[in-house]
Amino acid sequence: MKKTISIILALTLVFGFSFSSFAAEKQNWDAYWETEEAQAGVTMFPGSDETGRNFSWYSEKEGKSKVIITDVEAGTENTFTGTAVKTYSGDYANKVSVTGLEKGKTYTYKCISEGYTSEEYTFTTSEGNEFSAMYVTDVHVSYNEEDENGLKNNAELFGKVIDQAEGKREIDLLLSSGDQASMGLECEYKGFTSSPAIRTMTVATALGNHDRKGVDYSTFKNMPNEQTKGICTTYNTGDYWFVKGDVLFLVLESNNGSGVDHHNFLKSAINANKDVKWRVAVMHHDLYSGRIIHRESENDLLRLLWGPMQSEFGIDLVLTGHSHYYTVSHVLYNGKVTQKTGANAVLNNPEGTVYMVSGSINRPRNDKSDDLGLNDTVGYYYEQQENQVLYNIIDFSEDSIKVSSYSYDTGEVFNTLTITKDSQQGGHPQKLPLFYSFIVNFLGTVYQFFNNINVYTRLKDEGLDVNFFEIVFSRK
Ligand SMILES: [Fe+2]
Repeated sequence: MKKTISIILALTLVFGFSFSSFAAEKQNWDAYWETEEAQAGVTMFPGSDETGRNFSWYSEKEGKSKVIITDVEAGTENTFTGTAVKTYSGDYANKVSVTGLEKGKTYTYKCISEGYTSEEYTFTTSEGNEFSAMYVTDVHVSYNEEDENGLKNNAELFGKVIDQAEGKREIDLLLSSGDQASMGLECEYKGFTSSPAIRTMTVATALGNHDRKGVDYSTFKNMPNEQTKGICTTYNTGDYWFVKGDVLFLVLESNNGSGVDHHNFLKSAINANKDVKWRVAVMHHDLYSGRIIHRESENDLLRLLWGPMQSEFGIDLVLTGHSHYYTVSHVLYNGKVTQKTGANAVLNNPEGTVYMVSGSINRPRNDKSDDLGLNDTVGYYYEQQENQVLYNIIDFSEDSIKVSSYSYDTGEVFNTLTITKDSQQGGHPQKLPLFYSFIVNFLGTVYQFFNNINVYTRLKDEGLDVNFFEIVFSRK
């Protein structure tokens, strides 16, 4: 009897305590969510390389935008100024580029605009070629008229996932391969960047099909080396690149079918960074996930456009999203399997590219709710359970890339992928590009022109004050 009472007492203490700490945490987030700080959308995007960062945040008033950077060790301060652009909702999005940072140093930053001074956030620049990044996709911070707490709850979960990852490694880069938002709304981007944890990281986002439903990604972003001039770009954003360690990150706007422009972008980005060993692409559309049967015809078309480009330019790893299902492809060259992968694959000098898809943060799918298939390009898939949230930590070093994939529920690794290369070329074949790719790239560009006209009509019908030339010919 005594034993039973003491067990009951112990359980009451444990669960009572964890319930009250959970409630306190929830209350803290609820209170924080209401603050100007939470809603300011403070985001630190990459600069061209480790010595730069591009900042963006919202304010209600127009005025001087500046970022104060403090070198923590030396105690010296530097002020950088920028500009503000009016957003579609009537706010202002402040843009400031910071340059001249030194590698391997800790800095703080503060964003200041008319009537607003942010909290001070700390970040550290990488020193050599070793660093860790977090890779997530389809975060889907979603505005929903029928759920007044939806945005707040979505943002809270994303913050918790980042906190868990940061408990495992020091992470200073977040790679998000699209669908940060569900409707492309300013309030959703504010939610996406609301957690204090994300503000200590450099954030590199790709545009998802859901981000393209609205217009506000175009004022949220502040990307380095963005391709804004092309035959046919899309209005929200262009492709962009940045270098960190010995990795060239190529972030592609996969909603844009203009193959000619993507090909030109990849060529010029790689020419500008010939000595960088690793090439990692980040884009939304999943190409080779092969999990959702009814999307296979769309994927077939997209593979014609994107597959040969990744092969021609020797991309090592492509990080994607869209399907919300975790898969790792075999090693592919021009759509053909050159080497098989599987669970915990280790690939030495692979002769081609590996494509990954991760699961969604706020809209996880599970295998029971879809008509699933697997095509023969898939090397490994993870059977997702209901509401299972997945994320990845990627450890980059001179000779290897290792992706560790985690389930947020358990905090445990369920799969790894390791790629090693002993030279810059590694096992990538050096062959002439396929002839039909030129035709596909051209047709994609023509298609995109008409698609942009459709998007303009849709946005107008939704009552948005958009300009025809801004949407169809997009030159920013
Ligand atoms: Fe999505």
